Amino acid sequence: MSLFGELRLGLGTWQMGERTSEVAREVMAVEHALEVGYRLIDTAEMYADGGAETIIGKALKGYGLGKRENLSLVSKVLPMNASRQGTLNACERSLKRMGLDYLDVYLLHWPGSHPIEQTIEAFIELTNKGRIRAWGISNFDLDGLRQWLYVEERLGLSGGVGCSTNQVFFGLKSRGPEFDLLPAMQALHMPLMAYTPLGSGALADHQGLVTLAKTLGCSAAQLALAWVIHHANVVAIPKSSTLSRIDENFASLSLNLTQEVLSAIDALFPPPQKRQPLAVI
Ligand SMILES: NC(=O)c1ccc[n+]([C@@H]2O[C@H](COP(=O)([O-])OP(=O)(O)OC[C@H]3O[C@@H](n4cnc5c(N)ncnc54)[C@H](OP(=O)(O)O)[C@@H]3O)[C@@H](O)[C@H]2O)c1
Repeated sequence: MSLFGELRLGLGTWQMGERTSEVAREVMAVEHALEVGYRLIDTAEMYADGGAETIIGKALKGYGLGKRENLSLVSKVLPMNASRQGTLNACERSLKRMGLDYLDVYLLHWPGSHPIEQTIEAFIELTNKGRIRAWGISNFDLDGLRQWLYVEERLGLSGGVGCSTNQVFFGLKSRGPEFDLLPAMQALHMPLMAYTPLGSGALADHQGLVTLAKTLGCSAAQLALAWVIHHANVVAIPKSSTLSRIDENFASLSLNLTQEVLSAIDALFPPPQKRQPLAVI
């Protein structure tokens, strides 16, 4: 997994920055995540209209921008902004809010109406200017990914240059990608970023998962995350603004799931038997 190296878990930030009264707590949460060892942070210009990026910027100041090289910071351009010039402008706004010179990965948030060529040309220009290190897409099903790769090829991109990841809803609440998208991405050595891996928190209270987790001495949330990241080429990005949960989620990295446990999970959340439309949140 070259894009994220050994990283298998990051911090999501959707819904941070929405309430002024929560900002100090959320900045502290991101700072805490960095202290604990999270090295990947996912955000988007859409989240709280840039408010989540501002929170990350504040937390990074506390962390020390000198250590920024160790981090993978991911943001996304809204489809409605994803024309060539619109993407260039959106990226500059995101960088400013986060106080950064460059983003590690810049994604198109979901397929939109601007021609893919324009977005790709902007991604190339941003890369050439050193404003992003890599780019990718989000919420693209397998056909959409193939189409994107086809356009990149037409533009002369090949050999590892080009789309580096696809961020999709993947977890026990959304196993569809296992059927087609994930195997295809694994074959391309393209990491899949799994969003909403805790089912928006619902999996933490799922009775079957809670019971199974108890037998393993972990929490249901940890089991749900361990299941996501046991897949090759997958990085999970759970969101939490709660310090204890940030720790709890990070500890899922040390869980190893046996075949017996995987079968028990399959009984609770059956794997897909056929191709399913990509679920989107
Ligand atoms: N590309 C896209 O279109 C897209 C779409 C959705 C999400 N995302 C990204 O993926 C990230 C994660 O997805 P998500 O935020 O939708 O959902 P999620 O990570 O599955 O769940 C987050 C929710 O679970 C709670 N939670 C976290 N850890 C917990 C634990 N150990 N026990 C119980 N509850 C826990 C959080 O509450 P507290 O914060 O109060 O702890 C929050 O309400 C987002 O933040 C965003 O960065 C991307």
